[in-house]
Amino acid sequence: MKKEELWKGVEEYINDKIVKQESFMLDALIESSKAGLPPINVDPPEGKLMHIILKSIGAKRALEVGVLGGFSGLWIASAMKGGKLIGLEKSEKHVRVAMENIKNAGFQESVEIIEGDAILSLKKLIEDKVNPFDFILIDANKEPYLEYFLLAMKLSHSGTIIFVDNMVWGGQVISDNTEDRDILGIRRLYNDLQKRNDVDATVVQTVGSKGYDGFAVIRVK
Ligand code: DHB
Ligand code: MG
Repeated sequence: MKKEELWKGVEEYINDKIVKQESFMLDALIESSKAGLPPINVDPPEGKLMHIILKSIGAKRALEVGVLGGFSGLWIASAMKGGKLIGLEKSEKHVRVAMENIKNAGFQESVEIIEGDAILSLKKLIEDKVNPFDFILIDANKEPYLEYFLLAMKLSHSGTIIFVDNMVWGGQVISDNTEDRDILGIRRLYNDLQKRNDVDATVVQTVGSKGYDGFAVIRVK
């Protein structure tokens, strides 16, 4: 068996035994696929981990940079009671699909999606002096990862958890002499994290249905 098939099989086993997704999670993936969205959502074990962390910190306000079809948003929204998720998404089509999935799951009252460039939306949230967020997921274009993170820090409080997807990128993060903008973008975030002492941070490497990758978990001191 190829290792990728094994990773996928084991993930299916884990999902089936332990992750136990609500049917609206699976519906969201089916609808996203039908609408032609790329299958680049976080995998269910990662979604469930975020869900557990949100519950653990009693999160009431969450922010998501990059919504896609709303799969991760559903893991986030369903972990908060009386909470609010603001999602930032550039693609009009993704916004439409995500809002439909969120409505079908019954979370339309607690989720707002702002369509547009996430950098501009983040700056607007800062300007508007919105209350800080308890949990932030960054899972959008890789090139501006550092800019997203720096703006997310301004929307955080002591104890905010910032999740960043795709921090290993198939292992390419350590490839030599690369000019790949995604990799360079991800690396700029590592270099910033290396220097700063106002967060506790780690990256967990993962394998599964999405291949080899990893995510950062960052806690603001
Ligand atoms: C891909 C995966 C992701 O998780 C993402 O956020 C963007 C792209 C990919 O595999 O191409
Ligand atoms: Mg991702």
